[in-house]
Formats: sequence, C-alpha cells, structure tokens
Amino acid sequence: MAIFEATEENISKAADLIQAGELVSFATETVYGLGANALSSEACEKIFIAKERPHYDPLIVHIASLDQLPTVAKDVSEEVLNKLKQFWPGPLTAVLKKQSCIPDSITANLDTVAVRIPGHPLALSLLKAANTPIAAPSANPFGYLSPTTAQHVDRQLGPKVQMILDGGECDCGLESTIVNFTSDTPEILRHGGYTRKDIEKICGPVNLGKAILEQPLAPGQLASHYSPETKLVILSKEQKPDASLNFGILTHSGLNEGIECKYIERISPSGNAKEAAHNLFSALHRLDQLKLDIIYAYEFSEEGLGSAIMDRLRKAAVKMKK
Ligand code: TXA
Ligand code: MG
Repeated sequence: MAIFEATEENISKAADLIQAGELVSFATETVYGLGANALSSEACEKIFIAKERPHYDPLIVHIASLDQLPTVAKDVSEEVLNKLKQFWPGPLTAVLKKQSCIPDSITANLDTVAVRIPGHPLALSLLKAANTPIAAPSANPFGYLSPTTAQHVDRQLGPKVQMILDGGECDCGLESTIVNFTSDTPEILRHGGYTRKDIEKICGPVNLGKAILEQPLAPGQLASHYSPETKLVILSKEQKPDASLNFGILTHSGLNEGIECKYIERISPSGNAKEAAHNLFSALHRLDQLKLDIIYAYEFSEEGLGSAIMDRLRKAAVKMKK
C-alpha cells in the first residue's frame, strides 16, 4: 500500500524522496498532485512516464511561499505580485515568464511557466520540507478523471508512485483556475476553483483564452480530458436516458418524474455549486467503477463554479483515443 498518513515523519520521508528525484503524490486543496523536483528534468521525466503524458502538455510548478517566486519566474511586476498575494495560497495558477533554472522539458519549451502556491497545509508542509519547487500535475493517467482522494490515486497510479500522502478529501475538488499574466489583460486559460468573478474582483475585466472560447462552438474538436472509462453523455433538463441501457446518472439534486435509475449520484443536495464541485470527481469515480454502459450527466448552470463543472463534463464526454 502506497498510502501514508500525513505525519511529520512521513512528510519528511516524502521530502527526502523528492530531493532524491523520486515521485510523491500529495493532497492539495484542488486535486491530488503527482510531484517531482521541478529543478530536475530527470525527476520530472518520471511524471511524464508515470502519467503517459505527452511532453507538449506543460506541468504546473508549486512553491511554498512568495519568497520562492523569483526562483521560478522573472519580470513579475509589482502590480501582478500584489494580485497574486491576494489569491495565494489558493486555487490560482499564474502563467508568468520562466526563469532559466526551470527545465524546458517541463514547460514544453515555452518561455512561460505555470506557478501556484497551494492552499492545503499538507502540500505546504511538503513544499517547505523538500525545500525546492515541486512540479505536479493531477495524479491520474493522462486524460482520465482527476483524483480527489488518496484512494483514487492508489487505484490509478499506485504501483508507479512510492508514496501517496493522504490529506483527506480535497476541499475544492476541481483543479486550479489558470490565468495568463504575461498578456496586457489577464487571460483565463482554464476555469477552476476560483470563479471568473473571483478573478475579476481583484484583476478587473479579464479575457477568456482561445481554448475556453472555442469550447461551446466546437466540442468535437476538444482534446478528451477528465474522462471516465465509461462513455459519458450530457443531457439537458428535458432529455431522458435511454432505458434500454444499463446507465448511471450524475445530477445536482433531483430528477425529472418518471426516470428510474439504480445508480444516481446527487452531487449537490443543497443546490450549491461549491458542494457540486467538491463531489464531482468522486461521484464520477464511483460511477465509473460500476462498469455501466453509459453515464448520463445532467447539465449544470454555467453560473460561478458551474463553468468549471461544465468544462470538466464536456471534456469527459469526448472519448479518449487509445
Ligand atoms: O489544481 C491544479 O492545478 C492541480 C494541482 C495538483 O495543483 N494540477 C493540475 O495540473 O491540474 P495538470 O497538469 O493536470 O494541469 C495543468 C495545466 C495543463 O493543462 C497545462 O496545459 C497548463 O496547466 N499549463 C502548464 N504550464 C502552462 C503554461 N506555461 N502556459 C499555459 N498553460 C500551461
Ligand atoms: Mg490534469
């Protein structure tokens, strides 16, 4: 069993493993990460291998505090720094100009680097103990559902990682919001744990990145991501499941009259998007384990965190090419 309780002793062991160039999975407030020393391309190469992740997909670099920011990013203006201070620690990833000590192999040869200070005390303790920035994508095989518990990581990547530090269920349950701060107007590249409104409260009006803008127009063009093994189809409120199939349902709370289903995941009994985000991936993991013909997900309103939830569902609905 690769799962370890988050004791001081285990955190220190995990920090030693990071220093020795090995992989450690750990809880953050968003999803579990698969971490390696961000200053070592050899160590980070193990992440790409374990996840079967293509090198064109760059990694996020996690730091313990703002003091570490100049180590990984350069030319950060006072103005941007002041904004970052208000989001961190928390579910914001900032795309900034990269420092040369960050290997090109982990940023897909970009001259930018994605940086974040996570909000989970376990992640922060590990970062402090390891005394190095830690590159960490979500701890799932490339393209699959993100893990929000240590057990999810163990099931998906267990044999490939020496230690999974158990920090309980991730509070937020969705990945961080990625914002590009290298353009004149900040640009949201991925919806996530901070809503657009949260970002705009501090940054003023932001642009939406190309990938986000194209999503509703061309869902067929989307790279598959966050996908269960089981086929997933999004239904509008009026649509009904195909009763000839063995199906499961993901919904906020209720169901239209006349729909019968043995496997229902109600991810927001109180109608709160934060609660829905927190439960989303766990519910999908449970439904996926049932080996159903199909998972039907009822659509969510795109208000607030709803945009991030619908983003994950749309990508989950595009089947992975194997
Ligand atoms: O909440 C999170 O962000 C989690 C936890 C573990 O921190 N991490 C995470 O990493 O979701 P990952 O690898 O699953 O997603 C990172 C995304 C990738 O899709 C990548 O394209 C984007 O960040 N990214 C990384 N570096 C970038 C850069 N320099 N410019 C634009 N996008 C970048
Ligand atoms: Mg991921």
